[in-house]
Amino acid sequence: MEKTILVGVTGCIAVYKSAELVRLFQKAGYRVKVVMTEHATHFVDPLTFRSLTHEPVAIGLFDDPSDPIHHISLAEEADVFVIAPCTANVAAKIAHGIADDLLTTTALACTAPLVVAPAMNVHMYEAAATQENLATLEKRGVRIVEAGSGYLACGDVGRGRLADLNDIVSATIAALEGDAASDGDQDLAGKHVVVTAGPTYEPIDPVRFIGNRSSGKMGYAIAQAAVERGARVTLISGPVSLDAPTGVQVVRVQTALEMLAACEDAFSQSDIAVFSAAVADMRPETVSDHKLKKSDTEDSAALQQVRLVANPDILATMAQGKRAGQVVVGFAAETNDVVENARKKLEAKRADLIVANRIGEGVAFGTDDNQASLVTPDGCEDLPLMSKHDLADRILTRAVEIGSGC
Ligand code: CTP
Repeated sequence: MEKTILVGVTGCIAVYKSAELVRLFQKAGYRVKVVMTEHATHFVDPLTFRSLTHEPVAIGLFDDPSDPIHHISLAEEADVFVIAPCTANVAAKIAHGIADDLLTTTALACTAPLVVAPAMNVHMYEAAATQENLATLEKRGVRIVEAGSGYLACGDVGRGRLADLNDIVSATIAALEGDAASDGDQDLAGKHVVVTAGPTYEPIDPVRFIGNRSSGKMGYAIAQAAVERGARVTLISGPVSLDAPTGVQVVRVQTALEMLAACEDAFSQSDIAVFSAAVADMRPETVSDHKLKKSDTEDSAALQQVRLVANPDILATMAQGKRAGQVVVGFAAETNDVVENARKKLEAKRADLIVANRIGEGVAFGTDDNQASLVTPDGCEDLPLMSKHDLADRILTRAVEIGSGC
């Protein structure tokens, strides 16, 4: 049966982001109901949420004459209750069991997992009272999606911004699906996993490019498996026709240089980095600003002699700056001497693990299955043919083992 996410919306400027959050939950296939505090209605009209969810928006304790105990029915309907944004006031009330409006009464009555994403002014966020209230909630099993840092609506700079919506989505889905999953499934909770995926396109002119056949399926499967295991995931993706896994932060790029820049932003904060992209080894030295015409002598000559220059090796560049405990995983697609070639790449690129694929005979490109060997400095594990999702799990398990020194 379709699961229901109850979204609690409280009164702060970040309320406008809750509308997008509702859309993300719907895109992930969940039914969404919204409960607002009266203060929140000053920032966004309930009509916005009513239009998005096609459901009545719950606000006042006594608003629905047909349902005199609205807080109980709402609490029972919820498979997970996520309050985003959550003000200091509402966090304080929930921490102390105060139930003086529909949202806080529902929170008290709700036995489903509770997720709280605070947003407020930096001084309110850092105040001892707020921090103690959030710690109290966390101790009781409430998932807190910590506020981020940056420029705040009040003009201050610091912590207090509503967390990235993808982080709220992944925490909510982890809380929701966590009941069905075993504890072992959340072994990446608190970890940041960066994944590169898909091909890169290297432009010749505004129309033509050099690319390759990578579907991106393997990298997307790794991103999905990582988020399912509780990780925060940044997926740096070349052009593919795949939907981004829910809860994953996607950075879309076209070229190898763009992919490198995105990796430079994300890599240092990662615990595990998986480089599964099929990066174009070469790019045209110059990119024409107009479509090169065959009918034009000069353009035609340029087309016949596209000069190529080498792209940087993204995996090798990133692995050079690897810190202790950080695990770097690469891929090697080979037609022959698979393990031997993979071992050479392991050493040359300073990776901790190379996933070696034999290319050809229907294996690897564009398929849903994959057969691989996991090559590390200590040995090689030959895996049987399996789905890319299962292979993704095996790769992550090995990466976790390497990270913990096993
Ligand atoms: N890779 C990368 N940046 C590149 C090329 C490759 O990050 N410019 C990464 C891939 O994502 C993969 C690994 O390096 O994890 C191996 O890539 P592959 O193309 O198989 O190897 P190459 O180093 O290009 O060697 P060769 O062409 O000789 O097989």
